[in-house]
Amino acid sequence: MIIAKTIEETRAHIARARAAGKRIGFVPTMGYLHRGHTSLVEVSKRHTDFQVMSIFVNKIQFNDPKDYVSYPREFERDFAMAREAGVDLVFLPDNEMMYVNHLTHVDVDLVTTQLCGAHREGHFRGVFTVVTKLFNIVQPDVSVFGQKDIQQAVSIEKMVFDLNQPVKIIIAPTVREDDGLAMSSRNKHLDATQRKNALVISQSLGEARELIARGERGAAAILGAMRRIVESGNPQKIDYISMVRYIDLQPADTLAEKSVIALAAFFGTTRLIDNMVIEPAAGGFTCIY
Ligand code: PAJ
Repeated sequence: MIIAKTIEETRAHIARARAAGKRIGFVPTMGYLHRGHTSLVEVSKRHTDFQVMSIFVNKIQFNDPKDYVSYPREFERDFAMAREAGVDLVFLPDNEMMYVNHLTHVDVDLVTTQLCGAHREGHFRGVFTVVTKLFNIVQPDVSVFGQKDIQQAVSIEKMVFDLNQPVKIIIAPTVREDDGLAMSSRNKHLDATQRKNALVISQSLGEARELIARGERGAAAILGAMRRIVESGNPQKIDYISMVRYIDLQPADTLAEKSVIALAAFFGTTRLIDNMVIEPAAGGFTCIY
């Protein structure tokens, strides 16, 4: 596995792979890898021949400076996991090379107004800017994103379409711990009590699925039931529990088309998110989470 620390090196290695007829797959990450990240590489391998992963804790997407400073970093461990997952090249840039005299940013309207976009000022602009830069450096054929960050994934699909970026976006399923908690680099910050309490997040999605299976279609009833479950886990704060249409991530009062139920809550100072995609299926809806 190649570890490339400069843009030039990265481009040269990828150009060689492409010249050898390989299709390039790309998984951008902020490191502190877990099975959620490596599952994206697995998906990418099904579509491409040369796997690139970036590891870059992107300062400009952190609306909370404390979150940036405390974001876990353990690069040696990441390299071992990436190698094991079949990554061919890790791109490991630093802040200076990514943001020398930086003035240009990418925004995506509408799909960023709700959910996390309403609570994390500037976050998505930082994400779209870095992802666009990474796409321009790596020039992948395919790039895989996790459903775990559904607003990010849906918005990046829109960005790529709107800006004619020549890359195919794939959204891969959320990988969970055995007890249901969605894997996240931030889970490391949870103490034992918070870790146990945080289970209410995935449990609330399970309850929503049950209600939908029994025919409930009203957002108020579904989200109200979820809120009661989340509150039973004693969260520091609930940012949102929402139902939105998949197409534009705008609020939906009733479940009538492909939709997303998503939530964000703090356990201690750790902000956790999770979601479920609801698709119309023969005579009802299928919930994917
Ligand atoms: P990061 O949080 O490291 O996540 C990198 C990728 O892994 C994202 O596509 C995310 O959705 C996916 N991922 C995280 N946890 C997952 C899980 N439990 N199951 C499946 N996929 C999971 O998202 C970012 O970094 C950054 O915003 C980035 C896109 C790299 C831009 O800086």
